[in-house]
Amino acid sequence: DPIPAPDINNCTPTTEDKKGLQCCPKPSDKIHDFRLPESPPAVLRTRPAAHNAAKDPKYVAKYRQAVALMKGLGKDDPRNFWNQANVHCAYCEGSYHYTVPIKYCFIHGIQKELQVHSSWLFYPFHRWYLYFHERILADLIDDPTFALPFWNWDAPEGMYMPAIFEDDHLLNPLYDANRNAKHRVPGTVLDLNYGKDDNPDDNDTIIRKNLFTMHSQMLSISSTDWCSFFGDPYRFGCEPMPGSGKIENIPHNTVHNWTGTDSTLPPCTGEDMGVFYSAGRDPIFYAHHGNIDRMWYLWKNNFGGQDITDTDWLDSSFLFYDEKQRLVRVTVRDSLDTALLGYDYQSVDIPWIAPTY
Ligand code: C2O
Repeated sequence: DPIPAPDINNCTPTTEDKKGLQCCPKPSDKIHDFRLPESPPAVLRTRPAAHNAAKDPKYVAKYRQAVALMKGLGKDDPRNFWNQANVHCAYCEGSYHYTVPIKYCFIHGIQKELQVHSSWLFYPFHRWYLYFHERILADLIDDPTFALPFWNWDAPEGMYMPAIFEDDHLLNPLYDANRNAKHRVPGTVLDLNYGKDDNPDDNDTIIRKNLFTMHSQMLSISSTDWCSFFGDPYRFGCEPMPGSGKIENIPHNTVHNWTGTDSTLPPCTGEDMGVFYSAGRDPIFYAHHGNIDRMWYLWKNNFGGQDITDTDWLDSSFLFYDEKQRLVRVTVRDSLDTALLGYDYQSVDIPWIAPTY
């Protein structure tokens, strides 16, 4: 059976080792079921590469204004930036559980944790998370064409901490103090294979290795081997985190860790990007996940990848607050077609199709 949407009225703080944080959304008794349009909406949002968007001062100003407005919303407003960040925390750090009846587990009413990482829910959950985040930003600046940028870390021009998140930091709502100080030095190349130590290779070598990594993570999968792409099946009553797909592992996790503070230096937490509970507090999160989402988009549109047809995946569901502060239930099934969701990606070179030595 599919994984049910969480019961947000039964949400608990994160566990002690995750700081006992209160990440639960505002309770609500009214749930709206999402209705997918039959044809793409008239206005399509095109998500630009962050390094290209940086050259368009109007876009940068709009994006900064939208995030500033989102940060300024009241504490009770589910659209508020910090509440948005907590949406991720709640779905990742054990805030939600569901009850599994006896027929599944032989123990009456066992509680199972709901977790969206390291399984086939990874891509669809984050697609929906960005969908609502983007619509809230667009609504706040009253611009239906507004689209989030994507961090184009799979191309040499994008293999840096994107400047729009770093420039003029005192005045920039996209800036976050909790990023790795060494990696924010302009010109520092992102290592898609980052572990805990900085790569001693020269920049050209790191870039070349990154392209080979992208090639193997994206293109060494046959179009029908969906577990390698999406992650392992995660069904009702089963243990969370059965296993991640290739991209979730590298470069998704590695870019998170490269961006967050150095976890080998006190306080050793890797905040913000390097840990689930705080990752959404860094505006760069949404650009990183824009490119993760773009990998799903490219896999289908450019490389013949197929979506999973198992109804346990298709009928799994999530809850999010939308731009009108309504609680909306969405399904994996409704996330598959980005055109129907009203967005696509700026088309840029894909230099890892045939990388050279
Ligand atoms: Cu929900 Cu990039 O993690």
